[in-house]
Amino acid sequence: RFSVAMQRYSDPNAEKEEVWEEHQIRKATLKFGSKDKRQVCDDYQFVFEDQIDFIKAAVMDGDKFDYEEELALEKSKAKSSVLEALHEERKKLPIYPFRDEFLKAVHDHQVLVIVGETGSGKTTQIPQYLHEAGYTKNGRMIACTQPRRVAAMSVAARVSQEMGVKLGHEVGYSIRFEDCTSEKTVLKYMTDGMLLREFLAQPELESYSVVMVDEAHERTLSTDILFGLVKDVARARPDLKLLISSATLDAEKFSNYFDCAPIFKIPGRRYPVEIHFTKAPEADYLDAAIVTTLQIHATQPPGDILVFLTGQEEIETTEEILKQRMRGLGTKIAELIICPIYANLPTELQAKIFEPTPEGARKVILATNIAETSLTIDGIKYVIDPGFSKMKCYNPRTGMESLLVTPISKASAMQRAGRSGRTGPGKCFRLYTAYSFQNDLDDNTPPEIQRTNLANVVLTLKCLGIEDLINFEFMDPPPIDAIKKALELLYALSALNVGGKLTKVGRRMAEFPLDPMLSKMIVASEKYKCSDEVISIAAMLSVGNSIFYRPKDKQVHADNARMNFHTGNIGDHIAHLKVYNSWKENNYSTQWCYENYIQVRSMKHARDIRDQLAGLLERVEIELTSNSNDFDAIKKSITSGYFPHSARLQKNGTYRMVKHQQTVHIHPSSGLAEILPRCVLYHELVLTSKEYMRQVTEIKPQWLLEIAPHFYDLKDVENSSSNKMPRGHGLA
Ligand code: CDP
Ligand code: MG
Repeated sequence: RFSVAMQRYSDPNAEKEEVWEEHQIRKATLKFGSKDKRQVCDDYQFVFEDQIDFIKAAVMDGDKFDYEEELALEKSKAKSSVLEALHEERKKLPIYPFRDEFLKAVHDHQVLVIVGETGSGKTTQIPQYLHEAGYTKNGRMIACTQPRRVAAMSVAARVSQEMGVKLGHEVGYSIRFEDCTSEKTVLKYMTDGMLLREFLAQPELESYSVVMVDEAHERTLSTDILFGLVKDVARARPDLKLLISSATLDAEKFSNYFDCAPIFKIPGRRYPVEIHFTKAPEADYLDAAIVTTLQIHATQPPGDILVFLTGQEEIETTEEILKQRMRGLGTKIAELIICPIYANLPTELQAKIFEPTPEGARKVILATNIAETSLTIDGIKYVIDPGFSKMKCYNPRTGMESLLVTPISKASAMQRAGRSGRTGPGKCFRLYTAYSFQNDLDDNTPPEIQRTNLANVVLTLKCLGIEDLINFEFMDPPPIDAIKKALELLYALSALNVGGKLTKVGRRMAEFPLDPMLSKMIVASEKYKCSDEVISIAAMLSVGNSIFYRPKDKQVHADNARMNFHTGNIGDHIAHLKVYNSWKENNYSTQWCYENYIQVRSMKHARDIRDQLAGLLERVEIELTSNSNDFDAIKKSITSGYFPHSARLQKNGTYRMVKHQQTVHIHPSSGLAEILPRCVLYHELVLTSKEYMRQVTEIKPQWLLEIAPHFYDLKDVENSSSNKMPRGHGLA
């Protein structure tokens, strides 16, 4: 509509041409033409894009038009009508009839366990009710934790709309490396990990009047640790209200843990869900998911589809194939809108999944586990469940952690199916057999605390003065071996002394919201006078594997561009540094990123993280010093953090970890994949067809002795067959 209108006005024959002064056109173009609608929506806090069309039309028609005034008027009209609509929606939520009863329960009890199905309004409504009831009057905030970043951001955005305020003002969110709150903030949505970090600054959580540990059933590591900490704070602060909310019905366990706290149940609204199993096991669940999606689209009545996949790569592949097949079907079939959603999806694309589906079209959402309970998407009628998710697994013996695609639990399968029956009867297509459901799936997923590396939380707890970890009040305790392994690692990194007490290095490390190995690498850069370089590397590593992109039709070009940063076999860490520095030398140019097949968004994110790391360096009083030509110094800093991740080349061309017998390989995406240096260290291991080391750098074996004499001995460095335990393992 806009482009048509603009043409009319720029047509020299158009009558209104003179009336419409050029600067007004430019103004409007600036406001509407060059930005996408979403952005304008955000700027002006409109919720619906057709409001923009309406205003645009008004703008276009205006001979006697005062742009700013009209815009202001429309803005306030639109805002109040949107608010009204949202207000009506809020009243329809299952929790609404229980508002007063709920507030009374909070008033009467310090700790409350809340149970209600996904979509009943727990996350979006409860903090608002509490705010309306005056819990923020004392200048304190209401915290609501989420296990996932995406959920924290999207829920905060939704609540700010419902309250008619700008995101980041009264309603904000806080996730690692991104704080979207202000002085005004009273409702703070945050990841559970961020609240855990807040304990370091304020052990009694003084700035909060209510803490809501939401999505408690997810039992993430941070949530489990929070349980112990908030339980303790609640004892010390009778004025603090504690809410534990969960989407599943096994609330007794939470209640028991919190000294028999009362359980507040929000009766769910649920429609029947028809469950279909496959008759025989599927050989390729991705293909099966794609075929099923298209079959539903072609044969089933209207209603959106939700497909559960295991991660970003899988989602992107599926999106690609679905698009291709849809193109192949041409106009014979209705439009299929494909919406991916996963943790690293850029914010501006996340909103797409919540947009109402246009008449006649169908939406298919390709999601990770995130859509199981954390996000409620209206309009889903069909769920496709291949039965897998990516799960973190940890081997306390070797200290190795990997993400594995594993079968989900029965509880997860039920949650997934339930997503289709929220607003009407639904159907769930399980891409596995009924036999497999009964016999192969566990009842519940074990909590993360029992299958992860604990070094990070152990360090945090040590900083909080919690010395006796074995007797910490865990809801489900982690394996003793995992605690021991964490203590050993922290000792090896010099974060703890022989007596298990926090050292100065450890205290400095804890200031960084990073894995201990990564923060150790930064702290060690002081000694090697290259903190400037090392924080750039740390920032790039924190962004993950989304720096380079590799379009299908230009793979050769993309690979060449990538290899340009690897000349001299400098290794992946220094190559990252080179990428960052070249971008900086090119004035952080977007064009430069395009030319080098680099994702500008990831680079901006890295710059952001880098700035924050620089700020933290200052806080721990480490000077920002550059030593850009001394690669050995930089590599030694990296080794100071990552020495446990070292591997030696074997005669057969594979690698073996220096400290134990594990065989590993260099990931094909590494700049060293063809070089095969004698001794390397890696940033992380990924398990696909083999155990792959990702982000690899060559080191000299003697550095291991020089830097970690208490971890390695001469025997390790001379031949890699040693399997000796590090000294000091009796720490626990
Ligand atoms: O936390 P719970 O699962 O109980 O529900 P909620 O997240 O508070 O969601 C309540 C309703 O808010 C959902 O039914 C959605 O319609 C809406 N919502 C939304 O539109 N956008 C979001 N980002 C979150 C919720
Ligand atoms: Mg929720």
